Amino acid sequence: MSEQPAEIVPYKDGPLVIRGAFALRDEQGREIDAGRRTIALCRCGRSQLRPFCDGSHRLAGFRAEGGLSAAAARRHELVASVDAERHQ
Ligand code: FES
Repeated sequence: MSEQPAEIVPYKDGPLVIRGAFALRDEQGREIDAGRRTIALCRCGRSQLRPFCDGSHRLAGFRAEGGLSAAAARRHELVASVDAERHQ
């Protein structure tokens, strides 16, 4: 039986939360042992525990959408329409 892929959720004004089976690696490909199957990765750049979130985003007043930003949504629609045209 195959396992479900990991789920990655960008939280509003917060980290990226990953749930499930994943491999976290550094730039050289060495595995970073997260020690658990649910982790929060910093996307504000303020954590002292990077790549993990330490909650510093709250003090920093970090703001971000909980899903796609408006610009990313437009890009996503554009890419989807180009892909659809290619496959016609
Ligand atoms: S997102 Fe939480 S410390 Fe950066």
